[in-house]
Amino acid sequence: MAPDPTLVAKLSRHDQEGLLRWWSDLDEPARTSFLSQVASVDYDRLDVLIQSLVHHDEPTAPRPDQVGAVDVYRLPQTDGERSARRHVADLGQESLSRGEVAVILVAGGSGTRLGFDGPKGTYPIGPVSGATLFQIHAEKIVAMSRRFGRPIPLYVMTSPENNDVTQKFFDDHDHFGLKHLRLFVQGQMPAVDRESGKILLSSKSSLALSPDGHGGTIAALNEPASDGGPSCFDEMAARGVKTLFYFQVDNPLVKIADPAFLGLHLQARAEMSFKVIEKIAPDEKVGVVVTIDGKPQVIEYSDLPAELAERREPDGRLQLWAGSIAIHLFNLGFLRRLASGDIRLPFHKAVKKVPYLGDDGQVVAPTLPNAVKFEQFIFDALPLAERWTLVETDRANEFEPLKNATGPDSPATVRQRMSDNFGEWLETAGARVTRRSDGSVPFGIEISPLYALNAGELKGKITPGLRVESSLYLP
Ligand code: UTP
Repeated sequence: MAPDPTLVAKLSRHDQEGLLRWWSDLDEPARTSFLSQVASVDYDRLDVLIQSLVHHDEPTAPRPDQVGAVDVYRLPQTDGERSARRHVADLGQESLSRGEVAVILVAGGSGTRLGFDGPKGTYPIGPVSGATLFQIHAEKIVAMSRRFGRPIPLYVMTSPENNDVTQKFFDDHDHFGLKHLRLFVQGQMPAVDRESGKILLSSKSSLALSPDGHGGTIAALNEPASDGGPSCFDEMAARGVKTLFYFQVDNPLVKIADPAFLGLHLQARAEMSFKVIEKIAPDEKVGVVVTIDGKPQVIEYSDLPAELAERREPDGRLQLWAGSIAIHLFNLGFLRRLASGDIRLPFHKAVKKVPYLGDDGQVVAPTLPNAVKFEQFIFDALPLAERWTLVETDRANEFEPLKNATGPDSPATVRQRMSDNFGEWLETAGARVTRRSDGSVPFGIEISPLYALNAGELKGKITPGLRVESSLYLP
């Protein structure tokens, strides 16, 4: 069989005819699957990206005079502020009791830095039990569902590479007791050579494809199910869902569907909301939420000019302090509008090492970054929202992501933070916990979300005066 002449003409129009160079070496099944891959690429869109991000590398940094600080609900400091926050949490609780909230967990990344063999969500992070990230997240949702008397549906975004193993993992664990779990697969984009802009092949019959970034969530939620069933968006609407709580797989401290966060979002009739933390240093590696010409937007840490990162208020605090920790709320209607409208999230480029098929038909493992990958980021939805809220949270209680194998944001730091936080819950509930001189807990402490979701829930469950002097797990 010869390749479809229309496709050949299209490839040549887009300067990608080299993709078919190994055609005569392929058998029929390989040709069929390769053709469907090649035909699925949006070449017009790719041309624009190659022009702007590979050949021209348009600058992304704004001018310093365009950038300003953004309004944030700061952490409550006074009794009055704390009571107002509890009051607004009622709005969130009512919405949860009406079954209007769904949870989106994005887990399609490749977890390269962690270097773990398997989806990151299957990493055993529990400091005592070895519970996986997926188990911890799922049990929080089960506990919240019980508390509010309505099942909270969980939607997990996977990639084509990790979908099957993720599905099997949840199936093998009876979905950890979740009443409604659905996995949905994110899209992929071809990687291109960083000099020529040509699409790379990973073999004679496959393109070098990679996940299209966590911004791919929006399009993927809008896709019909693989069996032709309703999209996740349609399914959510049919269930009466109005608000989506979004978070990333690597942070076991996340307060899933936090009622106070929900309440502030609902009170403002926001389309998108962010939890933010105060950056500790100008060069800290988190995206920062700012205004650019008055509109709120996130600047990635790698795109933040030092002059801006170091700008200070008269009291010495960083002016652009609001670090995004990838915890969001979305109004369902807003995301549906983004999925079907003309305005799409922009693509960003990542220059990476991508193995590719060389001229001799052998796979080359590059030693230097050779390729450009294209990714969308979910936070780019912010400037498209008509109303938004930003809510500060306490870093120690809600953010310790698992990113690296060693050093910062690694299993050691995450487990330590979990033990320290659980130790604090126990102390608030009346226990005495042994600590080192620097305040850290010298052994593992872990409390299952099914046992308690916070210090308040722990009160009354432990004996006052309990002494915790060695490893403890409350299942
Ligand atoms: P990261 O950007 O930290 O990437 O993703 P990663 O894949 O986990 O790790 P590295 O960079 O390869 O080491 C943050 C979150 O976004 C999800 C990840 O699964 C993680 O929850 N993500 C990222 C996706 O779901 N899809 C993507 O295409 C990228």
